Amino acid sequence: MKRRVAILISGRGSNMAALIRAAAASDFPAEIAVVISNRADAAGLERAGQSGIPTLVIESKPFGRDRAGFEAVLQAALDERGIELICLAGFMRLFTADFVRRWYGRMLNIHPSLLPSFPGLDPHGQALRAGVKISGATVHFVIPETDAGPIVMQGAVAVSDHDTPDTLSERILEVEHRIYPEALRLLATGRVRLDGDLCRSEAGAGVGNFLISPLA
Ligand code: GRF
Repeated sequence: MKRRVAILISGRGSNMAALIRAAAASDFPAEIAVVISNRADAAGLERAGQSGIPTLVIESKPFGRDRAGFEAVLQAALDERGIELICLAGFMRLFTADFVRRWYGRMLNIHPSLLPSFPGLDPHGQALRAGVKISGATVHFVIPETDAGPIVMQGAVAVSDHDTPDTLSERILEVEHRIYPEALRLLATGRVRLDGDLCRSEAGAGVGNFLISPLA
């Protein structure tokens, strides 16, 4: 049985599209049962609709600071659809600790840096200002702290002196689209396990490939 997944978005939804694409394969262990946006104008909604995925808008704005109120409506929508796993994909709304605890181990997020470096806003700018030579993306389980939590999978890219936040973001996005479906595959097939604050997985380390940057 495929695990039933909800993808939560607020914007363009390119990671959402990568997950939908991967889940279209008959042997993928999860199905995207619904895409939920907290903004009616999220471009990703149209993309999801074009792929034949049911969409739902639950505007968060009217709830203001009432996070629990928004989450009650969201939780009801998830229950109604028998959702087992959540993938946050550019979802720009913070959850209460209660909601996060309820979904602990079943809710993934993706962030465009090698966490724990550069959490929060403008991770690409942060990476460039720090002068790192390698950056990347991280899929992690969601905990109450933003852009933190047990790391499921990471992918790295070289950073060049010529990079701008835009060019770096473009390159990291490619790696995001590669690792998010793979991380979901691991979770959906039960091949990841939480061990205290760490995530252990049965998948082997990426073999034979190390990344050096810059190359002399
Ligand atoms: C991605 O860079 C993701 O890592 C971050 O927000 C961005 C969302 O982009 N959390 P998209 O909506 O998936 O295109």
